[in-house]
Amino acid sequence: MELQILFVLFFPLAFSFRDQIVGVRGKLSCNNRLLAGATVRLIEKNYIGPDVILAENKTDYQGSYVVIGTGRGVLEMSVFLRIFHDCDDKVIPCQRTVSLRVPSTYISRGTTVNNYFEAGTMNMAFRYPDEQRSCTDRIFS
Ligand SMILES: *[C@@H]1O[C@H](CO)[C@@H](O)[C@H](O)[C@H]1NC(C)=O
Repeated sequence: MELQILFVLFFPLAFSFRDQIVGVRGKLSCNNRLLAGATVRLIEKNYIGPDVILAENKTDYQGSYVVIGTGRGVLEMSVFLRIFHDCDDKVIPCQRTVSLRVPSTYISRGTTVNNYFEAGTMNMAFRYPDEQRSCTDRIFS
């Protein structure tokens, strides 16, 4: 009897810890050339605790990329696409980096991506408002 009550109370909670998935694809350019070898990362930002790297990939020789991130949780993930690149960057060991929020409607339940966020072609010569520099990424990962 008690066990049944416990099951009824906690089963919905356990069930709500479902798989979540998000897929982003696009292409990077730098002025008038394709930007190969740039790092693209999907990051989950949480209110508490450190950010979580969900997935990472690099742009291919045509500047194209696909990144698919998966996670589990009751709450919907807050996901950012973070790009590291050397377009118009003269400081050799460091990279320019910018984080862009993926619209929450593209974070879905399940284990396959049915609805990719199409980021399109982005010219990374653009100076984004919240751009930063990363000098550790290339050295340590
Ligand atoms: C990484 O990006 C390449 C180029 O778009 C793609 O072919 C490959 O499937 C991607 N790898 C992963 C693990 O998503």
